[in-house]
Amino acid sequence: MKNLVRIAVPAIIGALLAACSPPEAPPTSVDPLVLGRTIYIKRCVSCHNHDGTGTLRRKPYAADFNQPGGVLSRSDDELLASVLDGKTGAYGTMPAFRPILKEHEVRAALTYIRSQFKPKQAELKPIPGGETL
Ligand code: HEC
Repeated sequence: MKNLVRIAVPAIIGALLAACSPPEAPPTSVDPLVLGRTIYIKRCVSCHNHDGTGTLRRKPYAADFNQPGGVLSRSDDELLASVLDGKTGAYGTMPAFRPILKEHEVRAALTYIRSQFKPKQAELKPIPGGETL
């Protein structure tokens, strides 16, 4: 009987301690730029290209993220809806990503796109005769 107590008591205490141990730590938050880059490379680059022009072998496949006044001038919510639900327009058709990506993943991809591709400013033309001023 004594032996049983010697074995059972620590076992019960151990089980109780294990049950009381803190819950598993939540997954460490991932930098949206890192997540966005991963998603862009996996899901978006095939049409939008590494340079964001949406042109591959001189053939336009998707919206050009570098175009001044282009798609990136639209709000985050509009772009999010386009990516989640798909969009057909002048450039062609983008499939809906809702079945394969979560909203935060699309937002991360958009954060990456906004950080990487900026509509280029129209080049300033020199003023005729300006060099003599
Ligand atoms: C199969 C090709 C294809 C893939 C893959 C693709 N896109 Fe597109 N995307 C397009 C096309 C085509 C358009 C332009 C539609 C149009 O003509 O308005 C577009 C437009 C967009 C726009 C502008 C939307 C708007 O409201 O004007 C954003 C932002 C965008 N894509 C982001 C993404 C992201 C993020 C991914 C990856 C998760 C992705 N795309 C994957 C083809 C693609």
